[in-house]
Amino acid sequence: MRFPAEPFRIKVVEPLRYVSREERARLLAGAGLNIFQVPADSIYIDLLTDSGTSAMSDSQWAGLMVGDESYAGSRNFYNLERAVREITGYHRMIPTHQGRMAENLLFSTLVRPGQIVPNNSHFDTTRANVEAQGAEALDLVIDEGLDPTFDHPFKGNLDVAKLERLFETHGREKIPLVMITVTNNSGGGQPVSIANARAVREVCDRYGVPLFFDACRFAENCYFIQEREPGYASKSVREIARELFACAVGCTMSGKKDGLVNIGGFLAFNDDSLAERVTNLLLRIEGFPTYGGLAGRDLEGMARGLNEVLSEDYLAFRINQVRNLGAMLDQAGVPIVKPVGGHAVYIDARRFLPHIPQSQFPGQCLVVVLYRDYGIRAVEVGSLMFGHRDPQTGQDVFPKLDLVRLAIPRRVYTSEQMRYVAQSVIEIHRERDAMRGLRLEYEAPVLRHFTARLRELEPATVQT
Ligand SMILES: Cc1ncc(COP(=O)(O)O)c(C=O)c1O
Repeated sequence: MRFPAEPFRIKVVEPLRYVSREERARLLAGAGLNIFQVPADSIYIDLLTDSGTSAMSDSQWAGLMVGDESYAGSRNFYNLERAVREITGYHRMIPTHQGRMAENLLFSTLVRPGQIVPNNSHFDTTRANVEAQGAEALDLVIDEGLDPTFDHPFKGNLDVAKLERLFETHGREKIPLVMITVTNNSGGGQPVSIANARAVREVCDRYGVPLFFDACRFAENCYFIQEREPGYASKSVREIARELFACAVGCTMSGKKDGLVNIGGFLAFNDDSLAERVTNLLLRIEGFPTYGGLAGRDLEGMARGLNEVLSEDYLAFRINQVRNLGAMLDQAGVPIVKPVGGHAVYIDARRFLPHIPQSQFPGQCLVVVLYRDYGIRAVEVGSLMFGHRDPQTGQDVFPKLDLVRLAIPRRVYTSEQMRYVAQSVIEIHRERDAMRGLRLEYEAPVLRHFTARLRELEPATVQT
């Protein structure tokens, strides 16, 4: 039998500051209704991201005290290298300060202008690092992965037929590598099956092109494989991880997710000559090869976190905490993306607020009320984040979906706090008809959602 609730007890607590509704309203108004501009210590439950927000264990904190800060040859490097080898089977591990530096190193070394890098869905930083090389970052997730209402066990799978066609059309010279993101963050934290990873590898082998994983949430992905993929129910998550990593030749990793640390990452593979080229670049832009961009103590925290994250008691708790939040919302009729992924619940804001048009940012309306009335921070992933004005036509262009992401930090919030989140969203849903749209008052030319300023529309100007 699994643990009935949290498989840990709390030894250290971080007190939260009580902030009244009036103060929250004032802070939000001063921030131009932009939740990124609100000080974090004025937030009760922060669901902005699951990245770098994990609680470390007593063993990880103890590991910090045995940090070896030697410039070269730190013992913590060897501990991390061993952990990565045992879990992935990759014998070359290059530490970096976080995931995006691993991406930078890999793409700067392998990708040339005019080439195409396919992925199930590129995460923002992966896309930006591919594009920085003058190449195209192409998303090839299966069609089911793009439909928020479609239930599929492996919605993160890469479409193998589309990949074949890409190789047939462009030839291998145009495609320096293929990536698969496990789980698929930009697609809602949806998992990828081993069968799919194998099929992609088979195509890559035929064309002589390497397959890499973006492995940020590999343990959560492997838990889904154990739960859902035929033939894996009796294998341990650790065994599944080894089998999954064997499908690729290497990976980039942000330790801020399934490394259970607040900072850190790495690049790992088996190719010694690639390691030499990457190391030359690492020395110039990140640090000496046995520390990358990290302190020795950070390497130790990540080495321990990578082993802890494979605990099946932990993973059962983790996946079910996220899933239960989704189930509470779903049962109350709140429209969410299904099935619930590994690290977050996504609310479908257009179905939640059908009377608020995309031009009035329905997702951000929900984010505003969640904070002002309940002290919860969520993030809009929709018209504010991805919408823009077409310079040619002068028309506003909106994304297909307007979502609000409730990302759950690892081992941080109790089930009672999650119930509070669910109740808050359900209450807002009941009162949704009274909610008003927003108008954009300031936007920066790039990544506007970080600094945008908005204002609530007067009731008379609300379009129905
Ligand atoms: C799938 C994926 N890849 C890469 C990254 C980048 O990692 P980092 O934030 O450590 O640079 C993230 C971060 O959220 C991610 O979710």
